[in-house]
Amino acid sequence: MTRLLHLTDLHFGLHRPELVQPLHDAVLLNRPDVVVVSGDLTQRALAGQFRAAMAFLRGLGVPFMAIPGNHDLPVFNPLARLLNPFGAYRRGAARDLTPVLSIGRLRLFGVNTADPLQWRGGVARMDEVDWVCRAMLEGPTDVTNILVCHHPFEEPAGFERGETANAQAATQKLIDAGLHAILSGHLHHWTIGLGISKQGARPLFQIQTGTALCSRFGERDHGFSVMDFDGSELSVTPWVVDEPTGRFAPQPSSAFLCRDRMWYKSA
Ligand SMILES: [Fe+2]
Ligand SMILES: [Fe+2]
Repeated sequence: MTRLLHLTDLHFGLHRPELVQPLHDAVLLNRPDVVVVSGDLTQRALAGQFRAAMAFLRGLGVPFMAIPGNHDLPVFNPLARLLNPFGAYRRGAARDLTPVLSIGRLRLFGVNTADPLQWRGGVARMDEVDWVCRAMLEGPTDVTNILVCHHPFEEPAGFERGETANAQAATQKLIDAGLHAILSGHLHHWTIGLGISKQGARPLFQIQTGTALCSRFGERDHGFSVMDFDGSELSVTPWVVDEPTGRFAPQPSSAFLCRDRMWYKSA
């Protein structure tokens, strides 16, 4: 069994400072094998905000993988946004915008959907998608292939904004090449196993986890997802903050099963 903990949308700089230590404690309580952070580490891509985000992530002492979100691009320096849009992220967070990590039987591929030419929207860059497809086709077949990106490739009901360019074409290519799951954020909204129900199976398991720490007005259900991969079985447990105590607590788990490249909801 490999335990992946999905964190997203930390938004350091516009975060809830009182939740930082409880989040740290709750992550460690779960003893994850790997922590995956799907972008928006910062609110405004400032050096101090990256320092705070990375201090938090490194302070966990757990292997982690991060990719940029739209908020990790410079806003106050238009020249930097145009000429070196990922310079601040590379200096402050990680040089690699498309990291790859193997842990247990999981193979994680990060892609960068943040787009300096858009404010909120993103793009599935087809050169990155093609590269991930090649890596999956040439890689081992007895693994679970997981894509990590900031912008969701398929938007859940109520969020159909068409914000991720190329998403449909990219999704089909990735499924054909052997992708099993996509982890994304950006929406600050929870969707676990998009489109998979007792009545319906899907070839791709998609999860959007809610924001971990963003303090923007109206944000709610701060938390993270704990994903236990065990052969063809997957169990997902959302951990959400209990506002009266300020502690993160587990919510009911959902179980899924992958058989013949299709995901089913388990009993
Ligand atoms: Fe965000
Ligand atoms: Fe975002």
